[in-house]
Amino acid sequence: MKNLLSAADLSRDEIGQILDTAAEMHDVQRREVKKLPALRGRTVVNLFFEDSTRTRSSFEIAGKWLSADVINVSAKGSSVSKGESLRDTALTIAAMGVDGMVIRHHASGAPHQVAQWVDAAIVNAGDGTHEHPTQALLDAYTMQQRLGDLEGKHVAIVGDLTHSRVVRSNLLLLKTLGAQVTLVAPPTLMPSGIVEWAKADGFTLSQDFDAVLPTVDAVMMLRVQKERMTGGYFPTPREYTVHYGLTRDRLKLLPDHAVICHPGPMNRGLEIAADAADEARSSILDQVSAGVAVRMSVLYYLLGGAA
Ligand code: CP
Repeated sequence: MKNLLSAADLSRDEIGQILDTAAEMHDVQRREVKKLPALRGRTVVNLFFEDSTRTRSSFEIAGKWLSADVINVSAKGSSVSKGESLRDTALTIAAMGVDGMVIRHHASGAPHQVAQWVDAAIVNAGDGTHEHPTQALLDAYTMQQRLGDLEGKHVAIVGDLTHSRVVRSNLLLLKTLGAQVTLVAPPTLMPSGIVEWAKADGFTLSQDFDAVLPTVDAVMMLRVQKERMTGGYFPTPREYTVHYGLTRDRLKLLPDHAVICHPGPMNRGLEIAADAADEARSSILDQVSAGVAVRMSVLYYLLGGAA
């Protein structure tokens, strides 16, 4: 595999290899000296056209702990702010001889475009409302750590489905891993075509969070993406929380063994209460920690051949 553009690019065996290697990489995080020579001599550029805390810093740490040279380029502070096109920016960076580019872009499909223009390995670090495959990998890794094999496990993904790239990558990856998925959202935040997709891929749709919650092994809360919303998707934030928030009261419906996930950043008090984010069943900081290990594994998988 040359690039990682979509969770659909990965077979079950490939996911298994990436997550097994991530478990080994996770040990590095616990060492005093966090350095492996695996990508010495390789150069990775993090090309971020959209804001990020977790993805950008974890890819940077991942590359550095594997001894790659890592350069960060963001739209602000680069020639993108002078009007340079995505193609010219990508070709310019590729001409410097880089081995890999990690790309986040507000336009769906941007990393796929860049992969057509350059020879470097491309990792999709989140493209518009389309996909975020390394997020789905780190989510699977985190859930597996708590629940074991995800085959047959019930995962509810709840909230702003319309604007979420995380849900798309998770649907693809969790299907490959044999998990049973239920999407929960108000009708206004269900993407168009979801009914047909659900029928074709065998996942379930619900608007009744209280009915779904007692049946789950994992509940993944999604951020309400106010910055991508152009209209009124729900009457008031309070109303949204009452029906679709993981509130303190709703936690009583969640099985004791179940895992709470959120890709972050969180809107505390809107889609998730502080009591839920910070309680023992929450894996939210474990997801962040797994992000470094999984991204180390992905970089190694794509760039770890002979230099
Ligand atoms: N989950 C996620 O992609 O977070 P960032 O936007 O902070 O990278």
